[in-house]
Amino acid sequence: MQEIRVELTDHPKPKPTDTSKLGFGTIFTDHMFLMNYDEGEGWHDARIVPFGPIELSPAAMCLHYGQSVFEGMKAYRAVDGRILLFRPDKNMARLNSSNDRLCIPLVDEKFCEKAIEKLVSVEKDWIPSAEGTSLYIRPFIIGVDPHIGVHPAQHLVFIILCCPVGAYYPEGLNPVKIYVEKNYVRAVKGGMGYTKTAGNYAASLKAQDEAEKQNYTQVLWLDGVERKYIEEVGTMNVFFVIDDEIVTPELQGSILPGITRMSSIELLKSWGMNVVERRISIDELAEAAQNGRLKEAFGTGTAAVISPIGHLKWGDDIMNINKGEIGPISRRLYDTLTGIQWGKIKDTFGWTV
Ligand code: COI
Repeated sequence: MQEIRVELTDHPKPKPTDTSKLGFGTIFTDHMFLMNYDEGEGWHDARIVPFGPIELSPAAMCLHYGQSVFEGMKAYRAVDGRILLFRPDKNMARLNSSNDRLCIPLVDEKFCEKAIEKLVSVEKDWIPSAEGTSLYIRPFIIGVDPHIGVHPAQHLVFIILCCPVGAYYPEGLNPVKIYVEKNYVRAVKGGMGYTKTAGNYAASLKAQDEAEKQNYTQVLWLDGVERKYIEEVGTMNVFFVIDDEIVTPELQGSILPGITRMSSIELLKSWGMNVVERRISIDELAEAAQNGRLKEAFGTGTAAVISPIGHLKWGDDIMNINKGEIGPISRRLYDTLTGIQWGKIKDTFGWTV
């Protein structure tokens, strides 16, 4: 395994004092991890250096053709003072799955986990401890060849940034307002929906922008072919409680295999609940809502963990879910996941590192 060189900053920045104002993704720590890939040499020159701008040719391939992948994960300051990561092996496995789809050379997953641990330990004083806060970790890879012919890059950079964060949505755990997106789609089967790549998020911006203008938080995405089956909500996976069945759309290529999704399914099963991964159409959902059988709806993701949906609009049809309040299953999942992440609940699954 390669060594990681460490160069510490001479100018540490003041850390945020009011953790209630952290928001998401605008404050960065003092250092970042970098590693280069050059054809013939492989991944090399792993280093932790002061956070700052990087030099990039305006012809860098990632800027033109979007050959870039990323991950999102968090470090938590546990109640007993330990610093915990949540299933980092799953993030690194997904990174390589995205790499494979985007013709990016695979990384050594174990080495990258070590790099994350080392960067987090250098930045440990940046990890906030207030309830609901954490250190968001953003590993990403970009193709940097100064060449605007379309082909896989031969020179790439792997970077890891960290930012202290609070809630992703200003609503926090309060249910959000969502409408069903009719005009735009996020991804299609055979495309890149199952990867964490920049283009998927670029594809979602227009819908998000229009939703915000109409005072909605995000949109519910339908499949790109039949415009019938539910796929995701905003940047999150989605779950519905219909009678005593908990349904989440099955992974079939256009849906991101979320780590919070996977953990929620495992938790629900461990509680003896009936959780099913299957296709679910918007008609089925609307009918369940009409008959009073739709009990809860919520998104799952690393950034917001659990985000209940209280109001879902489909054309002229408004579904008010659980009277616009957080439901018992959403609440139990949130409390258990965050309890494990913050070391308040014994981690019988072995998820924390
Ligand atoms: C998440 O829910 O963790 C996401 O993927 C959002 C992220 C792109 C900020």
